[in-house]
Amino acid sequence: MITRTAQSPSSPSPLAIVVLAAGMGKRMLSDLPKALARTRENTLIDHVLITASKLDPERIVVVTGHMGDFVEEEVKLGVTNGSWSCKKLLFARQAEQLGTGDAVKSALPQLKDFVGTVLILCGDMPLVREESLRTLISLHQAENATVSLISLVTSQPAAYGRIIRDGSRVTQIVEARDCTPQQLSVNEINAAIYAVDSAFLEPALKELKNENAQKEYYLTDIVAKASGEGQTIAALVLHDEKEIQGVNTRYELGLVNRSLMERRIKRLMEEGVEILDPATVLIDETCTVHPGARIGPNVQLLGKTTIEAGVIIEGTALIFNTHIKSRSHIKIGVRMEDAQVGEGCAVGPFAHIRPGSVLGEEVKIGNFVETKKAVLSKGAKASHLTYLGDCSVGEDSNIGAGTITCNYDGYSKFETKIGRDVFIGSNSALVAPVTIDDGATVGAGSTITKNVEKDSLAFTRAPQLAKSGWSKNKREKAAKKK
Ligand code: UD1
Ligand code: CA
Repeated sequence: MITRTAQSPSSPSPLAIVVLAAGMGKRMLSDLPKALARTRENTLIDHVLITASKLDPERIVVVTGHMGDFVEEEVKLGVTNGSWSCKKLLFARQAEQLGTGDAVKSALPQLKDFVGTVLILCGDMPLVREESLRTLISLHQAENATVSLISLVTSQPAAYGRIIRDGSRVTQIVEARDCTPQQLSVNEINAAIYAVDSAFLEPALKELKNENAQKEYYLTDIVAKASGEGQTIAALVLHDEKEIQGVNTRYELGLVNRSLMERRIKRLMEEGVEILDPATVLIDETCTVHPGARIGPNVQLLGKTTIEAGVIIEGTALIFNTHIKSRSHIKIGVRMEDAQVGEGCAVGPFAHIRPGSVLGEEVKIGNFVETKKAVLSKGAKASHLTYLGDCSVGEDSNIGAGTITCNYDGYSKFETKIGRDVFIGSNSALVAPVTIDDGATVGAGSTITKNVEKDSLAFTRAPQLAKSGWSKNKREKAAKKK
């Protein structure tokens, strides 16, 4: 019988966290160790460590094995780049993957001087919530338990370990492959998250045997040992199956990505963002969407994108690293990248806003317009079928349909400067480098190769010829031939 570490519910005992990440994840069919498989924004183990670090443990011990050096480097990178931090980060190496019990055993040297509660997590369960872990630890301490675990009641217990109870007392966990038919019908499963009293952990692990179907040292067997000694075992029963979703296959990684997205979208909607069809929207964690924005179906907000209040994104848009200020209206079919959109703009439908585009207040970009390194000042308009590249457009200037800034001669790029209150007639080619000064007008169909001076009219146009009766004659000749 083990003497338990003295705890009183009023003073929480110190916390150490062990994260198991020695597995290689054969079923991922990848050269990367499983812990380093990525969701859209993080490695699996980073997700777990970000959550774990929020509990402010005294130390975190990461157990590595397969490609251990590489996993350790990547884990440290998470600290260096500020994703998470911890008072003490330690590593343990499991030489051979002999089971989850053996994995925790290899962490014991890093826990030698630790007295308190050891929380054990798996590096491939990225959806575990901070609140659930806090609840588990509180329960563990309130019940003065030796081992506490998280379980889940499910209609599909599948290959999970079964929680076996005697009345309400948990007595053991039996792996699916070792279950009797009766045990297999139990629908309460083991999530593989445990809080264990440090004084109990070491002797319990040292007694583990591998006499089971997989010939592994099962961590789960410490539960039967505690029960046999008459120690208290507490169980926190969860109801959100998604929270304990592990990742063993690429399909399960896809499910995790979907769940992370659902959580984020739910949070944004609770904060006051209107999302018309949550199932078709992707929003990276790195984006900021303010309450009062409205996002239609089939929209991807990626990278460091900010969407302010009152913005309407109609739908079918990909917006990457772009800041859209309040009240702007992004119509259907828009792609934006590394751009800035000022207050009250209208963009699209079907517009391509490329890197370096800066739209001032109340700018209008209409259908089939492409901008690249184009700075448009307040009130400027390009409503139809236009390419604006390497250019500036002054306040209230109007760019007619079919205007092209010819910025490239096949070797280098050149700039076009358009002043304020300029009117560019339809179907004009502005051959850069060229400047069109304030208040000037360019006649429709012009090819502008020289600077246009302030308030002037410039046009290049072949004179119009007229031949009266020409069409009628032609029609009549054709009719005679029939
Ligand atoms: C484990 C539990 C099972 C539970 C399930 C929940 C055991 C014996 N079984 O089973 O009751 O229902 O999780 O998902 O614990 N690992 C190592 N070294 C090893 C083996 C595993 O570090 O030698 C790590 C893996 O990288 C992984 C975690 O431990 O992060 C869990 O291992 P895994 O093999 O997936 O356990 P399961 O068989 O799923
Ligand atoms: Ca697993």
